[in-house]
Amino acid sequence: MGKIVIAIDGLSSCGKSTMAKSLARNIGYLYFDSGAMYRAVALFCIEEGLVNGQSIDTEKLRNRMSDINITFEADPVTKASVTLLNGRNVEKEIRSLQVSRIVSLVAALDFVRTGLIDRQREMGKAKGIVMDGRDIGTTVFPDAEMKVFVTASAEVRAQRRYDEMTARGENADYNEILHNVQERDHIDQTREVSPLRKADDALLLDNSNMTREEQKAWLMEQFNRISKKC
Ligand code: DC
Repeated sequence: MGKIVIAIDGLSSCGKSTMAKSLARNIGYLYFDSGAMYRAVALFCIEEGLVNGQSIDTEKLRNRMSDINITFEADPVTKASVTLLNGRNVEKEIRSLQVSRIVSLVAALDFVRTGLIDRQREMGKAKGIVMDGRDIGTTVFPDAEMKVFVTASAEVRAQRRYDEMTARGENADYNEILHNVQERDHIDQTREVSPLRKADDALLLDNSNMTREEQKAWLMEQFNRISKKC
């Protein structure tokens, strides 16, 4: 049974990373979070003064792309994968609201996508990886042996985010979250470069009414079925 490439794409807030990480752990594969790479470029822009309000200095960023080195390593204590920007652990910084606000602008730039896609392909050369994102099965690894497109209703995703925030003791407004989820879906699906769409040969996973355990069992069943043939 040879190692394969597993591409997990889908809408925001439908639990892609959690499922991709857990699948990788269960089958002994490496996990790569492609969104973290776009987030690291966004952080670089903030730290290097390339952001002005809601716009990016595109020409300066284009010239600085070769100064951006993004790598992943396992945290020595938690063993979780952490993102390094030029050798510095930026896992916490890339999840900040400041980065979240501008990352979709960075992810829409064609030269950023081209640069990161080359690096993502490099990571998949030896196979045995699970990568999640928006264009992994369509653009990065169109020949991936297993492709999953994850979706859930906007209401279910908004409720999950609402529950997570209130569990952390944060103030949350369900209608505002729902609006944000719908807006992000629209931006992801209609942007010009690499819009989010299901690859024709991707398996559709609607997890609106699934428990984590049911989802895990479904993924393992698909993995066992596909990898047996490889
Ligand atoms: O999954 P995430 O929220 O961490 O992704 C961050 C941003 O990067 C989001 O705007 C979508 C974008 N992205 C992308 O365009 N292509 C990918 N393969 C992964 C993420």
